[in-house]
Amino acid sequence: MQNRISVFGSINMDLVIYSDSSPSEGETIFGNNFETFLGGKGANQAVAAARMGSEVSFVGKVGSDLFGKILKEKLELEDIETELLQAHTGESGVAFINVIESTAQNQITVISGANSHAQSDQLSDEALSSSEIILSQLEVPLQEIEKLFSRASNKGCLRILNVAPALQLSETLFNETDIFLVNELELSALSNKPLNLDDISSIKECIDSLQLNDDQSIVVTLGSKGVYVHQHNKNEFFSGHKVNAVDTTGSGDCFIGVMASNMLLSKNLFEAADFANKAASLSVTKKGASVSMPSRQEVLDFWS
Ligand SMILES: Nc1ncnc2c1ncn2[C@@H]1O[C@H](COP(=O)(O)OP(=O)(O)O)[C@@H](O)[C@H]1O
Ligand SMILES: [Mg+2]
Repeated sequence: MQNRISVFGSINMDLVIYSDSSPSEGETIFGNNFETFLGGKGANQAVAAARMGSEVSFVGKVGSDLFGKILKEKLELEDIETELLQAHTGESGVAFINVIESTAQNQITVISGANSHAQSDQLSDEALSSSEIILSQLEVPLQEIEKLFSRASNKGCLRILNVAPALQLSETLFNETDIFLVNELELSALSNKPLNLDDISSIKECIDSLQLNDDQSIVVTLGSKGVYVHQHNKNEFFSGHKVNAVDTTGSGDCFIGVMASNMLLSKNLFEAADFANKAASLSVTKKGASVSMPSRQEVLDFWS
């Protein structure tokens, strides 16, 4: 039975330093704290979907270093299948994150490492056929996503693309995507139009300019404002939920993983986005990215 989500994406070791200030050039300072987390858009979205109870397979590359082993273990602790995860001879992807605690600002440097060697043929035709959803983001080579989505087109998989970071898509990748997932900045970049968050009609104008075909949909997350969904000439806006926001890192990834998981259950994009909006708002009440992803029960309990 096809009930699996295959995530073809990035996985990083997040190395997070918490300090009162950032060192200037040539300066050495003492920080307050250091923590490591499973990160990368692909891995975060896989965790969000797995915590919803979905069967999730992660397809990508870690390095042959110690981080690679730890990252694989972290995925497995989340009940994510790692049979198609491969080790590339070299370094794992890492993100150096400096959180300045006094201002809550952060500085991030990402090294793609093994992620830039992820290959679409890690997913065999058989593995593709047993996936109901293929989910990807733009932190692995775009031409590999394009090949994978093209191969998936006659396999009955739903192809969901998180257009993040905001990069230009080839015509083929654009046409081979069933559901686009973007935040407001990514929608503006994708449509090459300015967007005013306070004016819903400007969101609609950006979407209209993309000239999606009848089988394509788009979901636009708008931070604390909520989410806008467009499918087959039907548009719906779901307001954001008022919560005590502590850390919004990974809220987009939470939204996407939860939405994909709910698409397996109801096949209704509007219902899935409504539920994901609730889950993502819950995720911002906790610190961290993948560690703040709620379980399905936590979402149901919170909103009951
Ligand atoms: N401050 C907030 N309060 C409530 N919900 C939030 C908040 N920030 C984000 N969210 C939820 O997370 C989703 C994704 O956030 P968004 O900022 O649009 O994504 P990204 O992290 O990709 O920029 C939103 O659609 C909303 O459901
Ligand atoms: Mg945002």
